[in-house]
Amino acid sequence: MGFANEVSEVSEKIKDAESVTVISHIDADGIASEAVLRQAIARCGIDVTSVFVRQLEPITMKYIPDNSSLKVFIDLGAGQQNLLEERGLRENEVVIIDHHVSQDVDTPYLQVNGLPYGYEKLSAAGTGYLVSKQIDDYNTDLAKIAVVGNVGDMMAREHCGLVGPARGIVEDGVECGNIEIVTDDLNCYGISTRPLHYCLSFSDDPFVPGITNNPSGAQDLIENDAGIDLKKRNGKWRVWEDLSPEEKRTLIGILALRLHSAGEPTKRLKAEHYIFPDEMKYTPLRNASEYATMLNACGRWVKPKIGSSVCCGDRGEGYREAEVMLRHHRTVIREMMEYILETGVTELSALQYLHVGDRFPDTIVGIGAGMALSKLNWKLPIMILCYLPDDPELIKVSMRTNERMVQAGMDLQAALMKAAEAAGGGGGGHKIAAGAYIPRSAEEGFAESVNRILEKQSS
Ligand code: C5P
Ligand code: C5P
Repeated sequence: MGFANEVSEVSEKIKDAESVTVISHIDADGIASEAVLRQAIARCGIDVTSVFVRQLEPITMKYIPDNSSLKVFIDLGAGQQNLLEERGLRENEVVIIDHHVSQDVDTPYLQVNGLPYGYEKLSAAGTGYLVSKQIDDYNTDLAKIAVVGNVGDMMAREHCGLVGPARGIVEDGVECGNIEIVTDDLNCYGISTRPLHYCLSFSDDPFVPGITNNPSGAQDLIENDAGIDLKKRNGKWRVWEDLSPEEKRTLIGILALRLHSAGEPTKRLKAEHYIFPDEMKYTPLRNASEYATMLNACGRWVKPKIGSSVCCGDRGEGYREAEVMLRHHRTVIREMMEYILETGVTELSALQYLHVGDRFPDTIVGIGAGMALSKLNWKLPIMILCYLPDDPELIKVSMRTNERMVQAGMDLQAALMKAAEAAGGGGGGHKIAAGAYIPRSAEEGFAESVNRILEKQSS
């Protein structure tokens, strides 16, 4: 049918609805997706309500209302169409806007999904934005939130940032005036809020000897090697965003030299950043990646609606609550990283794994897995298992790998889905990041069974 036709059909279906329920996922991309779509639908004068779920699975299907509204599933649904069928949802009651691997079912639910068209770097929020723009051109102000979703789902490539249809979305935001693209910038996190020396020392991709994990080394490099004054803003530390283009060039040059003399490649040193000039300086809303972390914090602490209200402009009580969740989120992620690295993982031939029991919430183990991988053996995908607080019968599984292993043929979605289904559970996701729920009774031997599938992939 063609991707543009799918966008068009889905937008027509939504415009014709009398009322809509948006069902979305609780991570940054899911929250951004809901905020984009809900605003676009409300602007048409259509009644719209939203439901967030941690995943579409048998236990969360009860949150989908039994009413006559059009059910728009976004950032989920494609891989769980069997559940929609089992629920008895008819073709004309459902729309799916997704970027996950789709499942074959008998009911031909209307779906827009860039994956079959090769748009692997377009998140659900990006797809929802394209539908919203098709609903009305006026909606290009929502491009900014779609970019947060794209960046939150790690869709930006090193060097060139967002590509393909996601690039067009950034350009819409630039035209609208609420996005600035900073190219050839430093590949680091926290450019708007972290004191510069902490920003450099927390950055471990690439690992710069003497700087990574060493704030005083970073301070010395900035002040003495580069001759840059760190304390400028009302006696406060400067942040990366405060630097002039020349100061940035000097620092990137010195970091490149350090890498070079350690025999390390420098190509991962640079990245593209998306700044939001309409947001207050020194806040996490000022750039796409810190904004996405704030949304993840809201979702993972089960308050996705606060994240959504921040996306829709709440800078009062909701924003303050989001700031508290963000601080809490960062602390728990740090604790989980320390736990994983101190406890150590079990290495099999094609997998490394760890069961964290009930020490950390199921909603953050995926993030922890991704972050831990950058400090472990990157060639082996990581799998973290944990218990679910509200379901003693189930185990949550999260897996992460990296772009290089995907290029070499690794597919976590396929591996985890197959192993989870054989264990009486279900899973899905992407080649690079996948998740599953399995019965507790299937815990023993599960890692070995995923390992066997991964071994076959690599052969
Ligand atoms: O459900 P969903 O697609 O939104 O989740 C995507 C997950 O995959 C996120 O946690 C994201 O960080 C992770 N991911 C990743 N690396 C990529 C793409 C996605 O870790 N290149
Ligand atoms: O939960 P986690 O962040 O590890 O999920 C990684 C990816 O796997 C996400 O894209 C998520 O939507 C997907 N997933 C899935 N089915 C599950 C669990 C996770 O499709 N049962």
